[in-house]
Amino acid sequence: MVIAVANHKGGTGKTTTALNLGAALVVKQKRVLLIDLDPQGNLSYSLGLPEDCIDISYVLSGEKEFSEAIQNIEGIDVLPATMRLSDVELSMFDVEDREFLLKNLISTVQSNYDFILIDCSPARSLLTVNALTAADYVMSTILLDVLSIQGLMHIVRTIEEIKSVLNPPLEFLGVLAVNVDLRKKLSKEVIDFIKQNYEFSFFETSIRVNVKVAEAPSHGQSVVAYAPKSNGAKEYLLLAEEIIDFKNK
Ligand SMILES: Nc1ncnc2c1ncn2[C@@H]1O[C@H](COP(=O)(O)OP(=O)(O)OP(=O)(O)O)[C@@H](O)[C@H]1O
Ligand SMILES: [Mg+2]
Repeated sequence: MVIAVANHKGGTGKTTTALNLGAALVVKQKRVLLIDLDPQGNLSYSLGLPEDCIDISYVLSGEKEFSEAIQNIEGIDVLPATMRLSDVELSMFDVEDREFLLKNLISTVQSNYDFILIDCSPARSLLTVNALTAADYVMSTILLDVLSIQGLMHIVRTIEEIKSVLNPPLEFLGVLAVNVDLRKKLSKEVIDFIKQNYEFSFFETSIRVNVKVAEAPSHGQSVVAYAPKSNGAKEYLLLAEEIIDFKNK
């Protein structure tokens, strides 16, 4: 099952979620590949990978094999990204089937994994198009504010376009609210507003504001490894269960 984590608004918890959901799925004995598809390389950096590592850009350009780029951290296979990916993205525009490069790459390794999670950049870039073309499902993360909702609307439009041309089976898996503080009136209001006005399905789990979640990247670890007893770790494990149940249905 290939899941792209996407929202056209920046800073809504996409990377945090791809990383910690991946780590939580491994705790649940699943075989996981995390693909960093953002030239910011935040996911790779958060797992302690050096910025001069052999990254996905070498594999997409055919200079290196998948096996040469893959790193295993906390039992997760990670295909990292670095800033080099933005240069390779530019050269991808000249390639035939440029929207299918990631899909073709994934098809060679998919049978080795139960879950492949793709961390997208917020940009409506060729890389994000590649992610949505390769994915079976998209999940979006939102902060409970109006700008996240705007980003969600934009990603929904992109999904419709990708469905109609490049990837008809693509489905929306759900919206995950992150950084939630239910003591705040705005959080409740935004959830109610979305539920009343849109047909998005929310995951039952939401991720509360949690300092351990924010601290874990500076230790090069997922929150599941860094602070297994924290609310953040518990909530990402619940999300993993929810997604495993969905897959098993
Ligand atoms: N549950 C949480 N509690 C506290 N801080 C959080 C939580 N979730 C995310 N953050 C923090 O919010 C910030 C943005 O998160 P993140 O980098 O995952 O967003 P993003 O959507 O990947 O951003 P971008 O669009 O730039 O890729 C980070 O500093 C992260 O540590
Ligand atoms: Mg990110």
